[in-house]
Amino acid sequence: ELTSTFSGPIDLGIIGGTGLYKLDCLEPIAIIPAMQTPWGTTSSPITISKFIGNNDFHVAFIARHGVNHEYPPTKVPFRANMAALKNLSCKAVLSFSAVGSLQEKIKPRDFVLPQQIIDRTKGIRHSSYFNDEGLVGHVGFGNPFSESFAKYIYKFKDSLENFETNEPCTLHYDKDLTVVCMEGPQFSTRAESKMYRMFGGDVINMSVIPEAKLARECELPYQMICMATDYDAWRDNEEPVTVETVIGHLTNNGRNANSLASKIIMEMAQGLPEFMLTGDGLRDSMKMSISTKPE
Ligand code: ADE
Repeated sequence: ELTSTFSGPIDLGIIGGTGLYKLDCLEPIAIIPAMQTPWGTTSSPITISKFIGNNDFHVAFIARHGVNHEYPPTKVPFRANMAALKNLSCKAVLSFSAVGSLQEKIKPRDFVLPQQIIDRTKGIRHSSYFNDEGLVGHVGFGNPFSESFAKYIYKFKDSLENFETNEPCTLHYDKDLTVVCMEGPQFSTRAESKMYRMFGGDVINMSVIPEAKLARECELPYQMICMATDYDAWRDNEEPVTVETVIGHLTNNGRNANSLASKIIMEMAQGLPEFMLTGDGLRDSMKMSISTKPE
């Protein structure tokens, strides 16, 4: 029986879909019921796990869309989720997301470590902790992800596999790789999809905004691992997608996410990387970002 409380500090926060809280290298030790925060309740209970072994590396896992996938992208309590991870003392946040590919070379079942974002959400999500609290805060967002974290993950680029063909899948990484974030829940039109390619988009999803913005306001190093499931709508002669195809890609992506996360955690548990110990240059950055005149 797992307890419902945990008091020690957590090292790594993970936001993702199901299948990531039961990694081979992790032992679940507590399930905190959906946590109440000043910004609402988290989208799922928080699973706390420890690294199997004799040290004390801890991971907190939140299911972004709820355990039964009950939150559409527009309604995910992003602020509560990030605040909960911050409150648990996480030193970095690793996030997983299914994406459509806007580039031929990014094939379904490939993974991408984006370093840039184009925000095409509609302004209806709560995307700041400084919206309506009588405080004005402007935080730098020129580099929305943690480059150190991306490089740390990219060491494991040879660990992705297509489990049907036994061929390798690619982990794409460079400083210009861009994820477009749209409101959804409907996918893009063909014309929009082509426009996003002209913008310089490489992949598209519905969740990196506001997650990345809130991580920045929480001074948390943040990296998203994008998992390609489809080619979106830009290919003119694309054969119609079948449910079987998408399910095959999702299953494959889940297995790869699991093995990649295991490798990252095993390495972190040997000794925290510099960016987690020092905060990746973000520590105390909010102090300089609040521009409300003191009373
Ligand atoms: N998530 C997975 N595939 C997607 C697509 N084509 N567009 C937006 N979000 C997605």
